[in-house]
Amino acid sequence: MKEKSIELLNKAVADELTAVHQYMYFHFHCDDQGYDLLANLFRKTAIEEMMHIERLAERILFLGGDVDMKVSKDDVEKIHDVREMLDLAIKMEESSADDYNKWANECSQNNDSASKKLFESLVDDEERHFDQYDDEIANLKKFGDNYLALQSIERSKNIGGGGE
Ligand SMILES: [Fe+2]
Ligand SMILES: [Fe+2]
Repeated sequence: MKEKSIELLNKAVADELTAVHQYMYFHFHCDDQGYDLLANLFRKTAIEEMMHIERLAERILFLGGDVDMKVSKDDVEKIHDVREMLDLAIKMEESSADDYNKWANECSQNNDSASKKLFESLVDDEERHFDQYDDEIANLKKFGDNYLALQSIERSKNIGGGGE
């Protein structure tokens, strides 16, 4: 029971580490392009994924294992286009939620209900992340480039004190 759970929890850590790297990369590039709202969303989500790693690590150690701290993908996707960033982000959230649902069931079958609950609680978070990214995609579709332009203007206003 323990070995299988530790293996699944470490797979989740690898997934989360990859998400942290990818979202921080997106954060840097949104920030560089002046899109503060999206830059903050990616940064905030990366921090939440980091906190997922902490919860997974605590469980792994409790079960007597060790945290591998390996990434599931060596390189981040070097995407600079905001729409493509969001497309990848919702795919990542969808596949995490999918995996964690499966792994919650596996843990339950192995009589490890605490790991099952941990995975279920992560599913809630990943679905919320999915929704947040999905809302941004909807905004981009609705308002087009104006939506991005507005974010840049907001930043200029903040720097320039709103022209007052
Ligand atoms: Fe996560
Ligand atoms: Fe997530």
